[in-house]
Amino acid sequence: MVASNRAWIFERRPVGSDFDSALNFREYSMPAIADGQVLVRNLYLSLDPANRRWMAGPTYMPPIPTGGPMWGFVIGQVVESKLAGYAPGEIVAGVGTWSDYSALSGDGLDRIPDMGGLPLHTAMGLFRGPGGTAYVGVKDIGQLKPGQTFVVSGAAGSVGSLAGQIAKNLGAGQVIGIAGSEEKCAWLIAELGFDHAIDYQTENVEQRLRELCPKGVDVYFENVGGAVGNAVAANMAPFGRVAVCGLTAQYNDDHAPIGLDVMPLLLNNCTMQCFVLYQYLDRLPEAVAKLAEWYRDGRIKYHADIADGLENALAAFKTLFKPGAPHKGKLMVRVDPAAN
Ligand SMILES: NC(=O)c1ccc[n+]([C@@H]2O[C@H](COP(=O)([O-])OP(=O)(O)OC[C@H]3O[C@@H](n4cnc5c(N)ncnc54)[C@H](OP(=O)(O)O)[C@@H]3O)[C@@H](O)[C@H]2O)c1
Repeated sequence: MVASNRAWIFERRPVGSDFDSALNFREYSMPAIADGQVLVRNLYLSLDPANRRWMAGPTYMPPIPTGGPMWGFVIGQVVESKLAGYAPGEIVAGVGTWSDYSALSGDGLDRIPDMGGLPLHTAMGLFRGPGGTAYVGVKDIGQLKPGQTFVVSGAAGSVGSLAGQIAKNLGAGQVIGIAGSEEKCAWLIAELGFDHAIDYQTENVEQRLRELCPKGVDVYFENVGGAVGNAVAANMAPFGRVAVCGLTAQYNDDHAPIGLDVMPLLLNNCTMQCFVLYQYLDRLPEAVAKLAEWYRDGRIKYHADIADGLENALAAFKTLFKPGAPHKGKLMVRVDPAAN
């Protein structure tokens, strides 16, 4: 076993987007595992907007304690096991730490199956959280019906880029993505098959939606909130559905109330439903099977933006909150340079 472990230490809760004061990269002791845990060598680290909420306070998990390594979803290889049924060499996924090595407990630990020749990072960026969230959000929460108009914000991101393609595959009449740059909008149309894309940094979203879908938006997949979310809320069709997946634009403000303007939703008899994938894990097998089929058939395109080296995790993480930042699709860190 390598003697050294580097980690991003969560020193203090961030104020706004001041992550430089919150996190510090340094040598750190090798995690000691307790009974019921495995020690893994991290291969990939997922960077997620939700990590910002984990820093702030309780979510679906307790708040991250200060003074130890920052938490994040990882894929890693077991190097030592005190968990029945898990042996060194196996590839697993779970909530680990921003470090070379993580101690993972059995709760929420998943064994990664043989990827059949696909890169291992598809297990993180396509088949697990992002794909499952996009599938459940479009199908179960949005309840999209063939022919309907579907709009997604954060459209060039990890969940959004998959949600738009899933909506298309499920028969949406029109798929419109909202993203933060001309380049991202061009990518959504040319590469991912979206019908239209709106650059919220240079275009008037509310007005463009009125032009593109005068009868209104049937299903809105909400990823960002803020001004973009309210511009879509103002354009909902009667009895439309809003699937609230995330509110990235509002995550760095720990004090302002978070949410959409519900008045236009009320006037249009809309249904707004929030969801967290953790409550829908029983839907993952269907989601993974469909995503695998569509990916094989070329009906889902998956893009990962991979930062090489643990030391670059914070710089990459900060881009999640920068409108128009260049990353497209799933943002992650390749911790082990040899990981495929
Ligand atoms: N409910 C669940 O179970 C679940 C699971 C996974 C993720 N989520 C949520 O889903 C959302 C998307 O996650 P993701 O991993 O796919 O992230 P992502 O979209 O890959 O990355 C975040 C993107 O948000 C956009 N953004 C940042 N600040 C913005 C602002 N002020 N206004 C508008 N857009 C802004 C940026 O894209 P542009 O350059 O286009 O602005 C940025 O690239 C997040 O809110 C996340 O918390 C929820």
